[in-house]
Amino acid sequence: MSNLMSQLAETTAFIQSKVNSKAEIGIILGSGLGNLASEIKVEVSIPYSEIPYFPVSTVEGHGGSLMLGELSGKKVWVMSGRFHFYEGYTPQQVTYPVRAMHLLGVKTLLLSNAAGGVNPAFSVGDLMVITDHISLFVLNPLLGKNEEALGTRFPDMSEPYSKALVSKALEIAAINGIHLKQGVYTGVTGPTFETRAEYKMIHALGGDAVGMSTVQENIVAVHCGMKVFATSVITDLGIREEENVITHEEVLQAAKDAEPKLTLLFKELIKGL
Ligand code: HPA
Repeated sequence: MSNLMSQLAETTAFIQSKVNSKAEIGIILGSGLGNLASEIKVEVSIPYSEIPYFPVSTVEGHGGSLMLGELSGKKVWVMSGRFHFYEGYTPQQVTYPVRAMHLLGVKTLLLSNAAGGVNPAFSVGDLMVITDHISLFVLNPLLGKNEEALGTRFPDMSEPYSKALVSKALEIAAINGIHLKQGVYTGVTGPTFETRAEYKMIHALGGDAVGMSTVQENIVAVHCGMKVFATSVITDLGIREEENVITHEEVLQAAKDAEPKLTLLFKELIKGL
């Protein structure tokens, strides 16, 4: 067995020793978007620091535990707080929990993130369902020897985000009066927010929003055959000519304000899974 697979075996054996049930849905909550976790009937919560080979989250606004619980009548694994490349983790470390969830039986992965809007039709507080992504200077987590036990060497990326789940989300939004945007998420490394020229470039390249997470997790999830659904909360606009100063506090506040819409969307989507 490779080093990675034996570490994953140890990780999942440890996690399984703490729980009595299984879940086929995994959720990773983004910056300032941890409140969905409070709606979960938690069976077990395991701090990342206790899980063998799990990295430890360091950013303000991120929790740091893996939970198994029930949401909308379904069992779910929830990561409250994720790992980012800008924290200094390797792309393999960032995505390690996704692989662990796959081996724990997760088939559908729901992701949320805070992102900057570069589509001029977007406003702060909008929800954007991610239909596709552009990976801009973000290292691909599949670089290196392929782990055949997880997936193929050259994964197809024609449907990185499940079209069926995007359609379902649009239906849910329409029924509940949520104005849902759709668009292309551009993944960057951060930790700097973008310069005016970079925001413009991202828009010119076909991006609608830009953020520092999600893409690497998506790639690893697609590699191991999961269905992925992801939503960005637009927390700032990169395309304003004036007053374009963006702070982490502003991002967290905007995420918090938009959170009830996101929680409703995820809960309704999970009902139908
Ligand atoms: N850029 C990159 N990442 C982000 C932004 C942004 O404007 N807002 C929230 N995360």
